[in-house]
Amino acid sequence: MLDLAHMRAELARHYDLAPSLKLAEQTSDIWQGMSRVVPFPDWAIHAPYVVAINRLKAERDAVILGHNYMSPQVFHGICDVVGDSLQLAVKAQEVKASVIVQCGVHFMAETSKVLNPQKTVLMPDMEAGCSLAESITAEGVAQMRARYPGAPVVTYVNTTAEVKAASDICCTSSNAAQIVAALDADTVIMLPDQYLAQNVAKQVPHKRIVWWEGSCIVHEQFTAKELREFRDWNPDTRIIAHPECPPDVVAEADYTGSTSGIIAYVGREQPQKALLVTECSMASNIADAHPKVDFVGPCMMCPYMKMITLEKVLWSLHTMTTPVDVAPELIKGAALAVERMIEMSRQVAV
Ligand code: 13P
Ligand code: SF4
Repeated sequence: MLDLAHMRAELARHYDLAPSLKLAEQTSDIWQGMSRVVPFPDWAIHAPYVVAINRLKAERDAVILGHNYMSPQVFHGICDVVGDSLQLAVKAQEVKASVIVQCGVHFMAETSKVLNPQKTVLMPDMEAGCSLAESITAEGVAQMRARYPGAPVVTYVNTTAEVKAASDICCTSSNAAQIVAALDADTVIMLPDQYLAQNVAKQVPHKRIVWWEGSCIVHEQFTAKELREFRDWNPDTRIIAHPECPPDVVAEADYTGSTSGIIAYVGREQPQKALLVTECSMASNIADAHPKVDFVGPCMMCPYMKMITLEKVLWSLHTMTTPVDVAPELIKGAALAVERMIEMSRQVAV
């Protein structure tokens, strides 16, 4: 576990991290990307970290990949590439820099590592996990294979490299239905997200989908009742959900899609009011790009994603910690499952 007191003392010895209005003004172009959600005085607190990280990033030949759920100061301030899980995996394949800093959760860093075994992949906080990834091991995959002999295993990328290596192909929320539909099999095992599997089953009704009973601790908290009540009070709100939500929640939504699907939908539709039934930073990160859209209603924080902070990223680059390791015997199998997904995604053009 990170020793925060030691980290802060060491960082203070090497960098001037005091809030600075001067640096905030000098970097106001970056702040413009988050001005609706981050007040300028707060930006004066973040700016010294952002400047230090961006400088160090160049010195270390590092690229920062950031998930759409990062806090706005991370998302807009320091990330070279941002996106959903599929986009980050595709980009990880194309990285030229020798170091990747993963601003996201551990399984995303593992995915970058299996696609780039020769590169250093740094996690700013190794504790940033995921309830889905923690819900299953390779033993669970073997149990499912024994229960449904011959059925292919489609594994959500929100899993460990060990689970990916035991699977036939991966999927993300942006390509799950297309991948399941394209497989030459009547019965398909989807794991570990029971809700994603149930939502896909509705989109691909001609196949029998069986699932593992994992769930996302963030998306499982939304209820259909609260969305119905919200709509009753705010009938002109567009409800936009992530497919990790339970099916009755998804049934209340006007649109359901991956985090990049949600961004594209808001961009296309420009609803007057939008309720994003997902992690809170989703709305914050796109608020400035869509000034006419009023982002309303409840959202949920992912406690794992929120472990990635500017000071931990600075520490990570300063100390070159913590490198993500994947056991050599798992790399090939996990990479194969991810590469098959990327290839099939291209074929079905999602
Ligand atoms: P996306 O692939 O849609 O970005 O989802 C990743 C995730 O962890 C959502 O909870
Ligand atoms: Fe995992 Fe859910 Fe957090 Fe995504 S939002 S990283 S699925 S716990």
